Amino acid sequence: SSQSPLTIDGKQYPTDSWTNVPPTILAQYGRKLHVQPNHPLSITRKLIESRFPGFRNHNDLTGVVTVGQNFDSLGFTPDHPGRSRNDTYYINKDTLLRTHTSAHEVDVFRENASNGYTISADVYRRDAVDRSHYPIFHQMEGALTWDRKDFASRAACVERITEDFHKLPKHELVVEDPSPPFHAERNPLQEQHHSPQEAEIIAAHLKRSLEDMVVTIFTSADKALTAAGQGSHAEQEPLRVRWVEAFFPHTSPSWELEVWWRGDWLEVLGCGVIDQPLLIRAGCPERIGWAFGIGLERIAMLLFGIPDIRLFWSKDARFLGQFDEARAIRRFQPFSKHPAAPRDVSFWLPKADGPVVVADTPASATSAPSPAGGQQTEPPTHGAAPVFHENDLMEIARNTAGDAVEDVKLIDDFVHPKTGRRSLCYRITYRSLEKTLTTEEANALHERITQELVGNFGVELR
Ligand code: PHE
Repeated sequence: SSQSPLTIDGKQYPTDSWTNVPPTILAQYGRKLHVQPNHPLSITRKLIESRFPGFRNHNDLTGVVTVGQNFDSLGFTPDHPGRSRNDTYYINKDTLLRTHTSAHEVDVFRENASNGYTISADVYRRDAVDRSHYPIFHQMEGALTWDRKDFASRAACVERITEDFHKLPKHELVVEDPSPPFHAERNPLQEQHHSPQEAEIIAAHLKRSLEDMVVTIFTSADKALTAAGQGSHAEQEPLRVRWVEAFFPHTSPSWELEVWWRGDWLEVLGCGVIDQPLLIRAGCPERIGWAFGIGLERIAMLLFGIPDIRLFWSKDARFLGQFDEARAIRRFQPFSKHPAAPRDVSFWLPKADGPVVVADTPASATSAPSPAGGQQTEPPTHGAAPVFHENDLMEIARNTAGDAVEDVKLIDDFVHPKTGRRSLCYRITYRSLEKTLTTEEANALHERITQELVGNFGVELR
């Protein structure tokens, strides 16, 4: 990390030993794809917003936030793995690029908690390299609360939420809900703050609202595709949606909504009953309600059939020209298919005294890195080569090859029975969206990545 200050959005920030945001990320900062007219992310945002009438839509909140906003305000514990420098881009020890739109929840509640709101924005995470992960992506936060102070009693407030629930649009889809809605230890009701009736009706309102959103936008996309003779989602596979248990520091109980897509359950959003201490911090202690966070790329990829997340960043008219917000949804037509150039790199990790943490469970597109993955936040080491972490390779690959790297995957991991040394092999797949890479170009990229790995992490090539 450099010692000179960083200028972002015209503001200067001092750097320190926490700084880990690379120039490649800063170069892409501020594109605001979610508000570019006719961009698929903007079209997707508007479709979702339209299912939450009366909500205030915030689309221009700045991406540089404090550690307090991104983590403390949401009740992340000081040792929460989401804070790790392996997963988060720090500008300095107090300032970072937001990892989720939840970073603004407390501020927006404090400013005006009446009515619901959405917050759409670019978010930043050090993460895996593959066709559905990119270090910058877009989320939409949504929240709705009711103020107990507006009612004669808590029971009257519950009655109102119940009425509001019955006014929500109904849908025909049977949504699978296999896990228990609450779990006493893992996913408790906030019994100190909420009666079971309050929590249950908030949860019902939340789930119905989100189901309506997903069902409506997918079925209308489906109709449009069928009308355009482009096949429909439903023809290939009927829409399947399910609720699963989830955990967030800022909601309890919490759930994720998953959509069945080409043989896999895809997580598209996280949500839950808002943590009451959060609302207390925001100056509205009597409000109760729900919040969700949705990954816009995920939804857009499903709706338009966009096969690779890198495409959203394309400035190529062959991409951008295919989307028109005044028109019904059309299936994205791939305009080029260049050959993939896979290259492997195998190496021995340096013999470490302490435990070596390597593989991270890739964080999903909507949730914070899972507590099982990542490393505890620790002060940066000086002198000795830093411990290798998988996301370091991801970043070297992106910084070196840019959007010419499609995928980085661990394909072998073993410990030598005699020496106890650990060997890893990664397959890096190079493929440009714009042109065919020559063998020499792919080799040169691979060589530079390999050399950085050796130079920065003291690994020994095999
Ligand atoms: N902030 C969560 C994430 O990015 C998503 C979320 C938002 C979950 C709001 C619940 C409520 O992982």
